[in-house]
Amino acid sequence: MNPLDAYWMPFTMNRAFKAAPRMISRARGHYYTTDDGRELLDGFSGLWTSGLGHCHPKIVAAVQGQVAELDYAMSFQVGHPKVFELANRLTAMAPAGFTQCFFTNSGSEAADTALKIALAYHRACGEGQRTRLIGRERGYHGVNFGGMSVGGIPANRKVFSAALLPGVDHIRHTHSLPDMAFSRGQPSWGAHLADDLERLCALHDGSNIAALIVEPVAGSTGILVPPIGYLQRLRELCDRHGILLIFDEVITAFGRVGAPFAAERFGVTPDIITTAKGITNGVMPMGAVLVRDAIYQALMQRPAHTVELFHGYTYSGHPLAAAAALSTLEVYAEEHTFATARALEPAFEEALHALRDAPHVVDIRNFGLMGGVELAPRAGAPGARGYEVFLKCFEAGVVIRNGGDVLQFSPFLNATPDELAQIFTTVRQALATTA
Ligand SMILES: Cc1ncc(COP(=O)(O)O)c(C=O)c1O
Repeated sequence: MNPLDAYWMPFTMNRAFKAAPRMISRARGHYYTTDDGRELLDGFSGLWTSGLGHCHPKIVAAVQGQVAELDYAMSFQVGHPKVFELANRLTAMAPAGFTQCFFTNSGSEAADTALKIALAYHRACGEGQRTRLIGRERGYHGVNFGGMSVGGIPANRKVFSAALLPGVDHIRHTHSLPDMAFSRGQPSWGAHLADDLERLCALHDGSNIAALIVEPVAGSTGILVPPIGYLQRLRELCDRHGILLIFDEVITAFGRVGAPFAAERFGVTPDIITTAKGITNGVMPMGAVLVRDAIYQALMQRPAHTVELFHGYTYSGHPLAAAAALSTLEVYAEEHTFATARALEPAFEEALHALRDAPHVVDIRNFGLMGGVELAPRAGAPGARGYEVFLKCFEAGVVIRNGGDVLQFSPFLNATPDELAQIFTTVRQALATTA
């Protein structure tokens, strides 16, 4: 029996992996070490998670100290100081008007929590008919039933089609190769695509819609950057129809787009923001849902002896995650990480777009330190070319990610020019030898 058999790996080709494993046994700074002692440059910052690099000494020390002091405290009706401190820090970083923070253990749970808060809010406001949830084609909001239903990645939905939430609709996605291929940063074409929300408001009547959830920059589907003016237009339409706007910032928060939140970078303030990943630099599982004050206050009108929101997790605000998050936020501030990331953007954009003349490349897109290189699919085998490039880069000492035929890049927020050069030279060589 293969000793790897028992572990059913997530979003992985299990049989292919177990036949030829890629095993990481250590990580430090910008490098992984494989079980056979090879050093790999991490070109994906974990899984969009670890922008500061791996095993940051300050975060490691914070978690080690915490586990010896308070390993766990009951999370319902009992609290511990660090999670309150963390909520204060996060709301202070958030756009004005955000006063509340609800903790989860993942981005998927954050998405479902946000949707539930939206439904509870409308009901508390006497608008219980607002039950419809709107997502966007190609969106990714995790794998739980709520996030999967508002999500728009066909492969993630297909098998579960009959079990998806009822009353969910999707606006169209923002991608159009003929109109925006090789845009640098935000495409100038496409703001009008936001008006698709009007179509759904006309169809269902806007007064029945609770919330619209979008990623400000769509990540998992292969880096779709919002056209100039698009997010502003979504905000206007949500305001017009009384719909809550949720930004899923699981990837974009904490420096990935050179700011604490994409909301700040784009100058568009949603009503709810979901986060995870970079909140602890990937060190502990944690998600956080940031909520505007008016939403919280609406839910606080019930008698004081009642639970206001019947929702929560055993591990909401876990002490180890809270300690990791607090020290992560401190490091972001001390090392000026968001400004460093912002300053790296031009070099990243140059290096990424230099692949334009490489074989198979049909589009390149970027925003902040998120980059996508779309390859023409191999005839009859979509995704095979992207996977092959991923494998070749791994063999050559650089970890990137492929989502189908889109190569994805998420360098460290403090990556060096040499590291960027190594990543893109390796990708170019892999493309050159891929049929
Ligand atoms: C935008 C977005 N939302 C939600 C999720 C789900 O997060 P998790 O895998 O932590 O459940 C992800 C994960 O990549 C994501 O990118």
